[in-house]
Amino acid sequence: MPTAFDELLARARALPRDGRRAVLGIAGSPGAGKSTLAEELVRALNADGEPWVAHVPMDGFHLADAELDRLGRRDRKGAPDTFDAAGYAALLRRLHEEYREHPGPDDETVYAPGFERVLEQPVAGAVPVAPSVRLVVTEGNYLLLDTGPWARVRAQLDEVWFCELDEPERVRRLVARHVEFGKGEREAAAWVARTDQRNADLVAATRDRADLVVPATAVPRS
Ligand SMILES: Nc1ncnc2c1ncn2[C@@H]1O[C@H](COP(=O)(O)OP(=O)(O)OP(=O)(O)O)[C@@H](O)[C@H]1O
Ligand SMILES: [Mg+2]
Repeated sequence: MPTAFDELLARARALPRDGRRAVLGIAGSPGAGKSTLAEELVRALNADGEPWVAHVPMDGFHLADAELDRLGRRDRKGAPDTFDAAGYAALLRRLHEEYREHPGPDDETVYAPGFERVLEQPVAGAVPVAPSVRLVVTEGNYLLLDTGPWARVRAQLDEVWFCELDEPERVRRLVARHVEFGKGEREAAAWVARTDQRNADLVAATRDRADLVVPATAVPRS
């Protein structure tokens, strides 16, 4: 099983073929290092020359707090039903359809939503994907769920890698990240134990469906 970062780069490079754009998914529990792995892959692959890889986070499909209030689901923010999974699947399908090897003036940039960590809100139009981008790296908790619209998300992914980190370290990093973005230490620990852990257990149960398991040790950090 490849674990060295160079092997991950070679595997990602080989995904777009037959004149198609590829979408690589990175799944894993909250705080396991998905965003870090995606950022490092995109940085390394784009390092020489014209950017050809884009990073589209599943986090952009968080429902807004106002909608979670309307649904009565604000206290479970981060659970599978607090995302617009159907919208995410539709965007991934559009990303496959709108690739142009030689873009003309009428070919459009596809805009994906981003996620603002301080406000903890999605932001429309934050992530441009140019028509010539050949590889999209998308990452999030629920890429391997097979329930409801999540199955349609998986169907749009050429490969899914699963980010693995030992539990104590994952929890430590997650609490630290909540604190960094404004929660108090106790509030952060309580949120991780109560809300994030349920989500983490759901995600852990999908590990065996991944094409590749990536240990955190394989990921450098710039
Ligand atoms: N090698 C590392 N050493 C220490 N901390 C790290 C390392 N890699 C990532 N982190 C930190 O761990 C935290 C979680 O990493 P990251 O954001 O990549 O995980 P994630 O799986 O995307 O989390 P989430 O599911 O919450 O989006 C971040 O604060 C990040 O800076
Ligand atoms: Mg992340």
